[in-house]
Amino acid sequence: KHVAVLMGGWSAERDVSLRSGEACVRAAESVGYRVSRVDVGHDIAEVLTRLRPDVALNALHGRPGEDGTIQGILEILRIPYTHSGVLASALAMDKAQAKIILAAHGVPVPEGRVVTRAEAARAHVLPRPYVLKPVSEGSSVGVFIVREDQEHPPQELHRPDWTHGDLLLAERYIPGLELTCAVMGGEALDVIEIQSAVRFYDYEAKYAPGGSVHILPARILPNVYQKVRMLAVKAHGALGCRGISRSDFRYDDRTGDESGLVCLEVNTQPGMTETSLVPELAAHAGHSFGELVRWMVEDASL
Ligand code: DAL
Ligand code: MG
Repeated sequence: KHVAVLMGGWSAERDVSLRSGEACVRAAESVGYRVSRVDVGHDIAEVLTRLRPDVALNALHGRPGEDGTIQGILEILRIPYTHSGVLASALAMDKAQAKIILAAHGVPVPEGRVVTRAEAARAHVLPRPYVLKPVSEGSSVGVFIVREDQEHPPQELHRPDWTHGDLLLAERYIPGLELTCAVMGGEALDVIEIQSAVRFYDYEAKYAPGGSVHILPARILPNVYQKVRMLAVKAHGALGCRGISRSDFRYDDRTGDESGLVCLEVNTQPGMTETSLVPELAAHAGHSFGELVRWMVEDASL
């Protein structure tokens, strides 16, 4: 099979995508596919028309790879592709819309509201501590935790060169643990607990060597563990995801039971770098990176 690995693009997560893409290229070659590297630009439709791969392995993060737009081009060109389709991708990319759907399906989400950047920059929009995040970014780009003792809203929100959109989600800060769980082929993998070496699981913690410690399996009570897996499958289904997705959770462990769990978001294009969570979860389930990529390629569809 001829596999085109789509990577790069022009989102804030371009560099992460190039790393995910290179890891996928190596893995796809290791299991015998003929591979083309495609650094996605505005000429992507022409490039794919010329290449005519059997499968597009989508290693993009953020726009345009994670929001349904690349998926639309692939549908029109009739090239089978990995991960979620148009609607699920578009829904998951918009954290505010995704929350509405998750809540309607009984997946607990943090309390909060959508605010404009101007509002969030002017005054505190929720009682402290709270979290501010762009509705459509990934890798914690543009995320702020406003602590109890922080007098003013984040000054960065005033910057004229802000590129993360004018809508933000303001959410109650949930103390406790960061958990993540992936769904592969409709079934939940295991649950990872993430401990950040820095302030929170931000961009640096995600991609710098030693930026975070992953505890697999997460050290939480068995009933909470199973609830995370169940909610990950439910969230994947609620948005209509396909292939692999990864859902991120906070767990307020002071509750001592499942009531402390909330789903932060569903990632339809989870990271595939060397320090990423999905390859680690797959390895724990006995699938090498090569086997994971082979599964994704064979599972690809239109
Ligand atoms: N947005 C990053 C790539 C992730 O979800 O892993
Ligand atoms: Mg994300």
